[in-house]
Amino acid sequence: MKKDAIGDSLSRVDGRLKVTGGAKYSGEFKITGLTYGVLVPATITNGTIASIDTKVAERAPGVIKVITYLNAAKVPGYQPNESKPASKGLKLFNDNKIYFNQQPIALVIADTFERATYAASLVTATYQKEPFKTNFQKNIDNSVVPQGGNYKDYIRGEADAYKNAPVKIEQAYLLPSEMHNPMELHVTTAFWNADGKLTVFTKSQGVISSQKALANAFKIEQSTVQINSRFVGGAFGSSLRTWPHEIAAAQAAKMINRPVRLTLTREQMFTLVGYRPQTIQKMGIGATPDGQLIGITHESHSQSAVYEEFTERSVNVSRFLYASPNANTRYKVVPLHVGVPAPMRGPGEATGAFALECALDELAYALNMDPIALRLKNYADADPEKNLPWSSKYLRECYQKGADKIGWEKRSSKPGTNREGDWLVGYGIGCGAFGAYRNKAQAYIKLLADGSVNIKSATSDIGPGTGTSMVLIAADILGIPAEKITFDLGDSSLPEAPTQGGSATVSSVGSAVHDVCLALKKKLNTLTGKPENNEDLDYVKILKQQNLPFIELTQGSEGTDEAKKYSMYSFSAHFVEVHVHALTGAWRIKKVVAVVDAGKIVNNKTASSQMIGGAVGGIGMAMTEEAIIDDRFGRLVNGNFADYHVPVNADIPQIEAIFINKPDMHINPLGTKGIGEISLIGVAPAIANAVYNATGKRIRELPITPDKLI
Ligand code: MOS
Repeated sequence: MKKDAIGDSLSRVDGRLKVTGGAKYSGEFKITGLTYGVLVPATITNGTIASIDTKVAERAPGVIKVITYLNAAKVPGYQPNESKPASKGLKLFNDNKIYFNQQPIALVIADTFERATYAASLVTATYQKEPFKTNFQKNIDNSVVPQGGNYKDYIRGEADAYKNAPVKIEQAYLLPSEMHNPMELHVTTAFWNADGKLTVFTKSQGVISSQKALANAFKIEQSTVQINSRFVGGAFGSSLRTWPHEIAAAQAAKMINRPVRLTLTREQMFTLVGYRPQTIQKMGIGATPDGQLIGITHESHSQSAVYEEFTERSVNVSRFLYASPNANTRYKVVPLHVGVPAPMRGPGEATGAFALECALDELAYALNMDPIALRLKNYADADPEKNLPWSSKYLRECYQKGADKIGWEKRSSKPGTNREGDWLVGYGIGCGAFGAYRNKAQAYIKLLADGSVNIKSATSDIGPGTGTSMVLIAADILGIPAEKITFDLGDSSLPEAPTQGGSATVSSVGSAVHDVCLALKKKLNTLTGKPENNEDLDYVKILKQQNLPFIELTQGSEGTDEAKKYSMYSFSAHFVEVHVHALTGAWRIKKVVAVVDAGKIVNNKTASSQMIGGAVGGIGMAMTEEAIIDDRFGRLVNGNFADYHVPVNADIPQIEAIFINKPDMHINPLGTKGIGEISLIGVAPAIANAVYNATGKRIRELPITPDKLI
């Protein structure tokens, strides 16, 4: 019997499949009669298609169909005039309008991918060009208050109170667009059965939401759409929604009445699956001479698209992370002729924390105060925004453990004075918070005569090792070895589960697994006439005695009223040591220590891996990632992996994840809070602050390339 499995370090239950090629991704299924689709990009940035010539492409070898707005079968769910412009997405091949450079104008279907690729190069178009706007900073004056969501200005106490503080910082922080590029390209394989059923293999963070989106697009019953997304090679927010090209794959399959596989090229990943939007954040932060905060003002402008609004909560973190009596935030978006952004790991909070945590660091130097001491001085013992107690908060412990582990005592309070030969050494801290959510989820369980257990839920695993955690939870509650348990996910026919996003999967689906396991034990106790809470269960024996080949049940689970009584967040403190070469500006991150209060940790091994992955994302933000548009043409100049730099193995130092690991029983029966986002939020400012500590150069515009340090 295996008790107390929660908290173990279990290797991924699907790890062997993943490293041996046994795991099949959306583009890897063998399907009879499969055809291949390749998108043709527009070469203008704003305007309309005047003419499009597909004749040469149609005559190319192997070409089955070339789809454009002129011949595309209508997608019935594409309304010509939606009432809510803020919510409308791009509708491919619906009309001749072009909103951004590289927007697809045609889809070429051929019998091989190579032939489709060649034929796509033969499609030509002429355009009616119109003026466009792609320069974010030059168009700040065209910013608008978002139409969707609640983005009203926030004021607590007095607005802009920092202005009258004896010590104040007033600075702007710039983040470039960071493009979604999971290792696995976005691929959709779609086919229609004779009975009108649509089957889709696609990279999805939510098979049920994908199912709903495709059912809505084609105006068919949700149950007639089957989504398969068992293995996902990373997503980070890029598959939270159903993209236009996914609908186009199903549209094309319907038109030619054959299966279609549409694979985005790496270059197309830079325009068609979203990104963390470019942002300018103005921070005003003021304190008394002894470091008591007087006011925080956080104003953010972020990039959006003209055809669809995208918003994120970049300013919200400044409302609650510190106990300032006065705080106010403003948020606007700048619609440009670009592809629409998307949530990217720590969406909003990662951006906001960069501004807040850098400004706080600047304030610490202005006050001649240790940055940790400044944070402790303004520690929020309750949520100052919601005026509620925290469900749990161990950020003090995070500061302590992180400072010990990084060797904070080695930090010089005078920037540029800690030197090892030609290398300047610096230390920095950056903190973060992300809401601890719990959504409605269902789980099915089946206990078999041999004592093995199968659990199913329509969740996804975009990388964190969801199935592995679910197995551990079940092992813990059922008291059986993990090897006896299997967990099925990534299939829309399974019991309904929420989209994998917002760091909420373990809290949501894990709670359903917890509940269904308890329900199973209760059922067995009832069958054998034992008290409900009897823990002494011999599963094999009970089924045998009862003469049952198996026993199965489904259980739903959702959040409680506790969410109204408490403010629920995960918290993190990231500590970084950097070395900057005094002559060349070349710099290395030497060590990252990430300390997280994320409630109970279910699987230590996969949780640590997730923390490392988040830190790598933060290192990319701080060090290398930056999408650049040539505003003369409105086109990305570095939309490929040669020119857009993501961190590589050599950039990544020792990363240590430390968990406070104290359960928060207000949120869910497992006591978990979530780590997916918090692993990244606060990393980039910790690095920027360490670079300042090393060099005395305050870089407020990411990424921190060596030229900015000399
Ligand atoms: Mo996450 S940005 O909610 O996938």
